[in-house]
Amino acid sequence: MPVNILVGTQWGDEGKGKVIDSLGKDVDYVVRFGGGNNAGHTVHVGGEKFVLHLLPSGVLHSHSTCILGTGVVIDPAVFLEEIKELEDRNFNTDHVLISGRAHLIMPYHVILDGLWESLKGDDKIGTTKRGIGPCYGDKFERIGLRVEDLLNKENFARKLKNTLNIKNQLLTKVFNKEDLSFDEIFNSYMIFAEKLKKRIINAEQELQLALKQNKKILLEGAQAMMLDIDHGHYPYVTSSSPTTNGACVGSGIAFKHVDKNIGVCKAYATRVGEGPFVSELHNEQGEWLREKGGEYGSTTGRPRRCGWLDTVVVNHAVAINGLTDIALTKIDILSGLKEILICVAYEINGKKVDYIPSSIEDNQCAKPIYQTMPGWTEDISNCKSFDELPKTAQAYILKIEELIDCKISFISTGVDRNQFIVR
Ligand code: GDP
Ligand code: IMO
Ligand code: MG
Repeated sequence: MPVNILVGTQWGDEGKGKVIDSLGKDVDYVVRFGGGNNAGHTVHVGGEKFVLHLLPSGVLHSHSTCILGTGVVIDPAVFLEEIKELEDRNFNTDHVLISGRAHLIMPYHVILDGLWESLKGDDKIGTTKRGIGPCYGDKFERIGLRVEDLLNKENFARKLKNTLNIKNQLLTKVFNKEDLSFDEIFNSYMIFAEKLKKRIINAEQELQLALKQNKKILLEGAQAMMLDIDHGHYPYVTSSSPTTNGACVGSGIAFKHVDKNIGVCKAYATRVGEGPFVSELHNEQGEWLREKGGEYGSTTGRPRRCGWLDTVVVNHAVAINGLTDIALTKIDILSGLKEILICVAYEINGKKVDYIPSSIEDNQCAKPIYQTMPGWTEDISNCKSFDELPKTAQAYILKIEELIDCKISFISTGVDRNQFIVR
C-alpha cells in the first residue's frame, strides 16, 4: 500500500518537519491534511534553515507534488509570502497545489481569535492568534468561504456579504469594535485569487488518480495528539484532528490504502500555550532543556514549556493513531545528563492512573510517577547506527519502546537531513 501518515505524538514541535524532510526522498506526493499557519516546521538543508508554516515540509524536495488538502485552513497572504520566500531562495514552487475544498482564513477570523482569547481571562488557551479556531468554527457553522470560491467573483461576493454581515454584528455589538469593509476584503482576496488560481485543483480527485497509479503518498501532520479537538486536552487544543484519523478525512484518502502510521516523538517533552503538562519542569533542569534544545516557538517565538518524556501521553498517541512506527527525535539534546526521567503513570487523588483522564481537571491535578534511567555524556549527533549509540542511550530507547509497545524505527540525532538513523 502506497500511503504513509506522519503525526505528532505529544503537544507539537516534535520535529515532524525534519523527519518528513529526511523521509521525503522517494515520495511522489506530500499532503498537508489539517491545521494552518499555526504550525511551524523547521527544516535544515545543506546548512540552510527553512521555517514552514503552511507549506508542507516536503516542499524542499522538488520532485514531489505538494498538496494542501481539504482539511487545511489557508490564509492566502501567508501562503503567498511563503511561496515568495522560497522562490527568492531559488526554490521552484510550481509543484505546490491547493484543494478547492480547503477553507480560507479571513481577516475577521484573525481579529476574533484575539478577541475571544482576551475575554477568557485565566481560561485562555494561548492560541497562536492566526484565526484557526474561528475559521474551523465557520466551516462547521457552514458559513465559511472556500478556496474554490476565489475562482468565481460573483459567488465570492455573495458569500462574503452574508458572512461579513454576521461578523460585523459580532465585532460592533459584542466587542465594540469598528466594522470591517466589504470592499477592502473583497478587493484584496481578488488579488490573491489572481495569484493563486493556477494552483487550485480538485485535489481529492488528483489523489485518487495517484492511488490508481500506485504513487507514493505521504500525509503530513501538523500539531499533535494532545492538541486534538476530540482526544487531546480539551479545551487546551487546536480546532482540528491532527491524528491519522484526521489525515484520512483531511486528504480524502481511505484507510485501506495506508501502510504505515508514523508518530514523531521528542525524547523529552515541550508544550506552548496553556493546558496540563504533568511532567513539566519548573526548575533549572527545564531551563537547561529549553536552552540546549532551542525550545522557542517557530511560529510565535514563545518560550516552550519543557519537561520529561511522558509515556502516558505517547501511549495515548499510539492507541488513538494506531501507530506502527515511532520516529524519536532530539535524543542528542539529552547528552550530558547524569540521569533521565520518564513519566510512566500519574497519581490522581491518591490513585495510580496509566491513561489520559477525560476530565481536564484530573489532568491538571495529576502528579507524575517517574522511572529513572542512567544518562550518557558522549556527543551522539554523528552516530550512524543504533549500535554506535552509547549503551545507556540504547537502554533509554529500548525502555521507551517497551513502555509504549511500538517500534522506534527512526532516530533523529540532529537538525540535518542526514542525522537520521533508520533501524
Ligand atoms: P515540528 O513542528 O514538529 O516540525 O517541530 P519544530 O520545527 O517546531 O521544532 C523542532 C526543532 O527541533 C526544530 O528547530 C528542528 O530543527 C529541531 N530538530 C528536529 N529534530 C532534531 C534532532 O534530532 N536533534 C536536534 N538537535 N534538533 C532537532
Ligand atoms: P506544529 O505543527 C505547538 C497550540 C497553540 C495553542 C493551541 C491552540 O508546529 O507542531 P491555535 O492557534 O491552533 O488555535 O492554538 O494549540 N498549537 C501548537 N503548539 N506546535 C504546533 O504546531 C501548534 N499548533 C497549535 O500554542 O496552545
Ligand atoms: Mg512546530
